[in-house]
Amino acid sequence: MKGVILAGGFATRLRPLTLVTNKHLLPIYNKPMIYYPLEAMKKAGIREVLLTTSGDHAGHFANLLKAGEDFNLKIYYAIQRNPKGGIADAITLSEEFAQGEPILVILGDNIFDFNLKESLRKLEEHIKKHGKGAMDFGVHMDALASQYGVIEIDEHGRVLSVEEKPERPKSDIAQTGIYSYDGRVFDFIRKLKPSARGELEVTDLNNLYLQEGSLLCEIIDWWIDAGTSYDELLRANNEVAVRVRRK
Ligand code: G1P
Repeated sequence: MKGVILAGGFATRLRPLTLVTNKHLLPIYNKPMIYYPLEAMKKAGIREVLLTTSGDHAGHFANLLKAGEDFNLKIYYAIQRNPKGGIADAITLSEEFAQGEPILVILGDNIFDFNLKESLRKLEEHIKKHGKGAMDFGVHMDALASQYGVIEIDEHGRVLSVEEKPERPKSDIAQTGIYSYDGRVFDFIRKLKPSARGELEVTDLNNLYLQEGSLLCEIIDWWIDAGTSYDELLRANNEVAVRVRRK
């Protein structure tokens, strides 16, 4: 399994914080935001990570992370030329890097401390047995505004639907920015058409796996998309601080 971290975008919602730097370099309590997905990769047992970002910020990441020595990871970089292409479009940058292996994708602004290792082992076993598979990670949310993808599951944890920011959510499970795919993911992405907002949507990609009956779902306990707003950025700082002090 190889790792892919998406750290591009304009982050207009966080301006002026992001006028001269990339949002994934902003602090979350005592570390830059990008450290959290990298540490999650490491904990999950991943050894090689491709970080995708825009050309004007790639140097900042390289200065900070270098080749990954401090994380005991091998970090590679890819330049995203089309920052508005969407998550699925950004994933295509990792096709050569993946070399046909399954990939774990994490959005660079996702803060969580669930260890993904056991879930990925489950997915890899599924792929070995059935020759196909993907995994979506969800989290229960108290107030599920229509700002996330929404995953509906049955009592056995099987996925019934995944909808992108629905007006009437069918469950209280938000789709996080953590996804894992088998080696066919790039062929699936080539089938996608841009959505109304002009992006290749990760939800449409996940639906292709759902349609063929190979989309698994795991629920994690605590997760924040720190890049959505000033308030979520602040909440991530506060909640991480509490967790660090507790340790
Ligand atoms: C994206 C996905 C959405 C998911 C969210 C998690 O939304 O499309 O399904 O819930 O990431 O952060 P976006 O941030 O692109 O609006």
